[in-house]
Amino acid sequence: MNAQRRPLIAGNWKMFHGGPGACDLAAQIAAGVEDLDHIDVVICPPFTALAAVAAELEGRKVQLGAQNLHPQASGAFTGEVSGPMLVECGARWVIVGHSERRHQYGEGDDLVAAKTKAALDVGLRPIICVGETLAERTGGQTLAVVQHQLEAVMPMLERSQGQAVVAYEPVWAIGTGHNATTAQAQEVHAMIRAQLRQLSSQLAERTRILYGGSVKPDNAAALLSCPDVDGALVGGASLDPHQFLAIARAAQPA
Ligand code: PGA
Repeated sequence: MNAQRRPLIAGNWKMFHGGPGACDLAAQIAAGVEDLDHIDVVICPPFTALAAVAAELEGRKVQLGAQNLHPQASGAFTGEVSGPMLVECGARWVIVGHSERRHQYGEGDDLVAAKTKAALDVGLRPIICVGETLAERTGGQTLAVVQHQLEAVMPMLERSQGQAVVAYEPVWAIGTGHNATTAQAQEVHAMIRAQLRQLSSQLAERTRILYGGSVKPDNAAALLSCPDVDGALVGGASLDPHQFLAIARAAQPA
């Protein structure tokens, strides 16, 4: 972490807690971060729980995010949810380009870029996910793959002036219990920041780069100690308030 950038811990609940359990989990997290300052905590429940969780978080420090959005503001897109609808529900953040969407729903770089633009158009702060597969890592392509994914959203990152966040999530680390080492994470995070520096050094210093992939209480402090790791995007451990709060505490500046 770097004192210039406010740490951010985001929980991606995926397709869990879409009903009444969401408010209970949100309330426990909100109570647990009351005494934490100088850190942003975001939770991203399923669409069906957004409005209820927004009401639960009223006046609390935890911020609300969604997990996806459609690139159009409205239209005949059965089953989809747009950026303006997320804003109406109380969301202020949205995850785009998560590897589960890239790989299971065929979302490519152009669609991720369109969704990022749609988010910024309505004032939602995007958490843009990038990351290589195991085959790409073992093939020595990690930096090239991440660079290419980032290239597609560079105009949006420039426009956002540090409001958007990048999350480096190696696909092989997601949900597997095999997190990247600190050296692996720092190498990619430094490369991402160097790429941002090509646009402007101010943008590079401002933009937060999260690490995601099997972040747990026992590895969070080490990962967060890397100079270019500004926070974490947490999946499995964000469903357990004790684990998620322990990770948030590890990110709290001394
Ligand atoms: P994980 O998921 O923490 O369960 O590995 C991370 C993510 O998918 O964002």
